Amino acid sequence: MPNDAQSYSQTYPDAEGYFGQFGGSHYPHEVQPALDELAKAYQELRDSPDFQHELTRVRTTFQGRATPVHHLKTISSQLGGAQIFVKREDLNHTGAHKINHCVGFALLAKKLGKTKLIAETGAGQHGVALATAAAYFGLDCEVHMGEVDIAKQSSNVGRMRLLGARVVPASTGQSALKEASDSAFAAYVQQHAHALYAIGSAIGPHPFPLIVRDFQAVVGQEARAQFLDLTGGSSLPEHVVACVAGGSNALGMFSSFLGDEGVTLHAVEPRGRSEELGQHAATLSYGRPGTLHGARSIVLQEGDGTTANVSSVASGLVYPGIGPEIAMLHESGRISVAAIPDEEVISAFFRMAKDEGIIPALESAHALAFAFHLAAKRPSSERILVNLSGRGDKDVDYVLENYGTGQ
Ligand SMILES: Cc1ncc(COP(=O)(O)O)c(C=O)c1O
Repeated sequence: MPNDAQSYSQTYPDAEGYFGQFGGSHYPHEVQPALDELAKAYQELRDSPDFQHELTRVRTTFQGRATPVHHLKTISSQLGGAQIFVKREDLNHTGAHKINHCVGFALLAKKLGKTKLIAETGAGQHGVALATAAAYFGLDCEVHMGEVDIAKQSSNVGRMRLLGARVVPASTGQSALKEASDSAFAAYVQQHAHALYAIGSAIGPHPFPLIVRDFQAVVGQEARAQFLDLTGGSSLPEHVVACVAGGSNALGMFSSFLGDEGVTLHAVEPRGRSEELGQHAATLSYGRPGTLHGARSIVLQEGDGTTANVSSVASGLVYPGIGPEIAMLHESGRISVAAIPDEEVISAFFRMAKDEGIIPALESAHALAFAFHLAAKRPSSERILVNLSGRGDKDVDYVLENYGTGQ
């Protein structure tokens, strides 16, 4: 694997959208021309200074970039080991990293002459970010969401509607993120002539994993430079940590550190209620090769190959697959994987609120819980950089109702 960022991003994916054995485009034939058109248009726009300039302008003036890197002084000192730093993606407009690629997709849709954005959402963060980008650029927006998540994340559903989006309930199977994705993909197949699928993560058929990774790369680019500034420009963190469902925030953060051999990259999955199939969503830990939502990757499956049910306290991590690039990086040994159970996620959520004054998204609390374990085991000379992918406002009602205030 090439170890400088530029040759790596030129090598992967290949022309057919493969990251090693993972990726590709396994999708109904009728949409292939639309995907080919998107791949070609994106390759041209990716290198266009005008496109990149406009994207940077929107990110700076509307979205609130650059987000800061911040030292968790209290918790680091309580743990007595490695120092923990967080990349504050929770401070983005709409509260999570998802807006990084939503703004990119909306700009892409405008350039392609599309009038509508379609997507799925789990926790509602992607849906709100997309509805926001659609409103900004004057596009229609249709967001598919599982009925279970609609009930759990009602404030985000209200926000999407306020922003002018149509929320389409998905009520098959577990009525969660996978079913929302099935429903949104089906809508895109029908409407691809005038609509662009603005996928929620680095998943799906080529070119979606590539596009999402590129739009999210700003997280790691900023974080790397900010970390060097903060620590006197001498060295990088020894560990970089991100939670992972499809992999958009993890790839955004990791992509700038892939070539740094001294930096260990940790992807943190949800171990949910237990290690039993159906009770977690730890795809890298327990899955095997399969095809899901148009790409070959690692998938949690029953013995007969059907996609397994999944569970996590964080709606945005309730997904039985993983993006193909994360699957390749894991297979190659470049990233290591850990799985954190629900109760530790809730403890990390309370601890961040009380000791640091930051209420994290339950998704991000997976990465934080892992970082707390790691910090306690590592010497104080080491530094851990965590992608704090989103804020927990959307989770407050759910946590108060089910776990109280943590007092
Ligand atoms: C705040 C937050 N972090 C992380 C994720 C997981 O997605 P991904 O693996 O694409 O970063 C989500 C998904 O909804 C999210 O809302």
